Amino acid sequence: MKNKFLLVLALFFFTTLRAQKFEGLAMTPPMGWNSWNTFQTNINEKLVKETADKMVASGMKDAGYQYLVLDDGWMAMERDSDGNLVPDPKKFPHGMKELVDYVHSKGLKFGLYNCAGTKTCAGYPGTRGYEYQDARFYASLGIDYLKFDWCNTDGINAKEAYTTMSKALKKAGRPIVFSLCEWGTNKPWLWAENVGELWRTTGDISARFDGYLDHGTWKQSGVMPIVDLQQGLRKYAGPGHWNDPDMLEVGNGMTVNEDRAHFSLWCMLAAPLIAGNDITKMSKTTDDILTNKEVIAVDQDKAGYEGYKYKTMDSVEVYVKPLSNHNWAVCFLNRSDEPKTINFDWQNELISDTLSHETMDAKNTNYQLHDLWKKANIGDTKKPLKTTIEVHDVLMLELTGK
Ligand code: GLA
Repeated sequence: MKNKFLLVLALFFFTTLRAQKFEGLAMTPPMGWNSWNTFQTNINEKLVKETADKMVASGMKDAGYQYLVLDDGWMAMERDSDGNLVPDPKKFPHGMKELVDYVHSKGLKFGLYNCAGTKTCAGYPGTRGYEYQDARFYASLGIDYLKFDWCNTDGINAKEAYTTMSKALKKAGRPIVFSLCEWGTNKPWLWAENVGELWRTTGDISARFDGYLDHGTWKQSGVMPIVDLQQGLRKYAGPGHWNDPDMLEVGNGMTVNEDRAHFSLWCMLAAPLIAGNDITKMSKTTDDILTNKEVIAVDQDKAGYEGYKYKTMDSVEVYVKPLSNHNWAVCFLNRSDEPKTINFDWQNELISDTLSHETMDAKNTNYQLHDLWKKANIGDTKKPLKTTIEVHDVLMLELTGK
C-alpha cells in the first residue's frame, strides 16, 4: 500500500516536471526561414509578405519549411506605458497581428524574436522582468515560434531565465516552439530538454566554409568550425529537443559545392533547417539545394538520431546517421582545397552506433546505394565505392538494406 502510494507520488512529480513545456512540438527538427542572416534589422511588412508568398511558390513549403521567423529589429525602441512590447509602426504599419494572419493564411507558421536580457542584441527592449506579459502578448498575436537570445544578461542564471520564459509560454496557453539562443555558453544540452525544443550549440554562423569572421570582441564561425563543435552532443538531441548549430547560410555567398556541403551536414546532424537567405531573389540552384526532399528526409527522419563523424581519410570525412528501418545516411565530405579520390570498401567497415544500437555491416547485409544529390542508384555495398569528390563538396548516400 505504502509502495503504491510512493509510486503514484513519484509518477505525479515525474509528469508535472516533464509537463513544463508543451508536449509534442518539433518532433522532427523545425524547418523555416529567419530574417537575420540576410536582413539583420532591416525588416518590414512587405518583406515578410513577399517571403511568405515565395516560401509557397518556390516549393519550400511543400518541402517542409513551415516557420517564418522575424529576428531582432521588429520592435519599437520602447515599450508602451503599460509595459507592452510595440511592433515598430514604421516597419509594420498594419501591426503585427495582420501580418501573422497573412502568414497563417498561406498555411505557414509565424515566429518572433526576443532576448532574456534587459535589451536584445541590437538594443531593442528585452524580456527580463516581463516574461509573463510578453508571453501573453505573443499568444494574443497567435505566433507559433519564439527565438530567445542571450545578450545583456549580466549576472543572471541561464537555466532559470530560460525556464521562466518557458513557464510563461506554457501559462499563456498557446503552443509555441521555444528556441533557446544562448550560444552554448551554459551547456543548454544538459538542462534544456524540458525547457524548449531547440538550443543553439555555438556562437553565430557566417557565410564562409571554414575559419572565422573576427569582429574584435566577438567572432562568427564558418560552417566547418561549427560542425566540429557538435562533437559529443548527439546524445542530448532527439524528437522534441534538438541541438541547433545555427541558421543556414545557403545562398549567401559560398560556392555551390559549399552550400551543398553545408546543407548536407545540417541534415546529417538532424539540425533545424532555418533558411537565412533572401528567398525572394534566390537562384534556381539555391532553391534546388534548399528543397531537395531526399536530403531533407535524412534530416527529418522520425527516429531523430543526430549523425556523427565515423572516420577521416586523407581530408575526406565520413559522416553517418542511422535512420528508421535500419537504413543509413552516409556523407563523404571533402574538406581540402583539392579534389579527392576515394576508394571505400564497405566490406571492411563495420559501423556500430552505441546510441541507436544500429549496425551497418556490409558483410552480412547488402545495402543499395542511392546518391541523394544526383537522385540516382549507384550500386551496392558488395563493391568498393570509387569516386572523386570535388573541393568542399559532398557525396551523400542513403543505404537501404534488403
Ligand atoms: C545574436 C543571435 C543571432 C541574432 C542576433 C540578433 O547574435 O545569436 O542569431 O538573433 O543576436 O541581434
